[in-house]
Amino acid sequence: MQGALGVWMIGALGSIATTVIIGTLALRKGLTEPLGMLTTGDPFKDMALADLTAIEFGGCDIRPTEQRSVARQVLNLSDIADPAGCREIENAFLQIVSRIDKGTARNCGDAIQQLTDSSVMRDCSLREEVAEIRRCLQQFKRERSLTEVVVVNLASTEPPLELDRCHMDLQAFETCLDRNDAAAVKASTIYAYAAVREGCPYINFTPSSGALVPAIIQLAEKNKVPVMGNDGKTGETLVKSALAPMFTCRNLAVLSWEGFNILGNMDGSILRHPDNRESKIKTKDQILSRILGYAPHSRVHIDYVPSLDDQKTAWDFIHFKGFLGAKMSLQFVWQGYDSMLAAPLVLDLVRLADLAKRRGEGGLMPQLACYFKAPLGVEEQRLYEQFKMLLDYAELATATRSHHEICV
Ligand SMILES: NC(=O)c1ccc[n+]([C@@H]2O[C@H](COP(=O)([O-])OP(=O)(O)OC[C@H]3O[C@@H](n4cnc5c(N)ncnc54)[C@H](O)[C@@H]3O)[C@@H](O)[C@H]2O)c1
Repeated sequence: MQGALGVWMIGALGSIATTVIIGTLALRKGLTEPLGMLTTGDPFKDMALADLTAIEFGGCDIRPTEQRSVARQVLNLSDIADPAGCREIENAFLQIVSRIDKGTARNCGDAIQQLTDSSVMRDCSLREEVAEIRRCLQQFKRERSLTEVVVVNLASTEPPLELDRCHMDLQAFETCLDRNDAAAVKASTIYAYAAVREGCPYINFTPSSGALVPAIIQLAEKNKVPVMGNDGKTGETLVKSALAPMFTCRNLAVLSWEGFNILGNMDGSILRHPDNRESKIKTKDQILSRILGYAPHSRVHIDYVPSLDDQKTAWDFIHFKGFLGAKMSLQFVWQGYDSMLAAPLVLDLVRLADLAKRRGEGGLMPQLACYFKAPLGVEEQRLYEQFKMLLDYAELATATRSHHEICV
């Protein structure tokens, strides 16, 4: 009999993590529908996925914050009209966040460093930091009697990590940890390495390139730990990956594709900083040329507009050429609540990563490409083809499940 599944979120006090917890509690009470999630519907619900009622939350953050108001904001945006239910959810949520651990902000740049409080890990070696995160994961697993723990990176976007020889090979990476080569790792690297060493499937929902470096992916393959990233695909890039193939299907030549994004939450305030923004632009940038087979003039702009709070608006202008060279254009505006778009994806990813681990799979999970802006190890960027990869996987996993059930 399968026990509870633990979800350990890095950035556990952030908007997405809060929405994941509140959303799960509301789903359990039947107060809302699992809209935005794939795994609760056909054909995924026939897979042996962890039940939403058997998920325990934990995690870490680097800042203290007043969580009651954050929980209320999420509940106010929802369509839950049951005050008693909301109060119960809020209390359960506060209990969960009262248990979260302190994380590390190593090498994360000034924008993130400014968030930290004095109790965040400092002045210890890389090996000590890894040991501390592993200790947190072990304690979470033990205290909550969990069979498996999936780690999800939902922390603020770090500046990019410049990859070096020591990141390309596991042995070289271990040596760099032993040498305490502090410049070679960021907080996301410490978390990812600790999770994989602990045998915990790891999801990098952020663009932070320090997390799943090749050496850590090698370790995941070797130890049969499923991992996947980078950067959840929830808004402008989601639409791009659905829309760009249309121009190919009609042999229309895209001349320019300009994207303007404004957002107002804390993620937006971190992305104001050029180094952190560079990570995001990198993951958003590569899909057009892969889909179209050529690179039109294209730029992605991201601006912080505080009054928008968690709302995000993307305006994209696509200039294209058709028959007899006539120039035409298409524009779209996408408006959404960042965390409401992201949270159901996180729940799907957690359940699918846990299943992959139980199926004995390790290393990258290409079947999850449709959830990411820059899916690691996957060339395919077209949304429907990526979705087909997930459907094929579901069919296989369901067939092997039935086979297993017939055999036992
Ligand atoms: N919302 C979306 O649609 C979406 C889509 C794709 C990716 N993302 C990424 O997901 C991440 C989380 O988004 P959010 O809106 O919840 O952001 P947020 O700013 O609300 O939350 C981030 C949390 O991470 C914490 N944090 C920062 N550095 C940390 C560290 N080193 N260790 C532990 N905690 C740390 C912060 O204190 C904060 O509580 C961001 O990197 C964002 O770019 C969001």
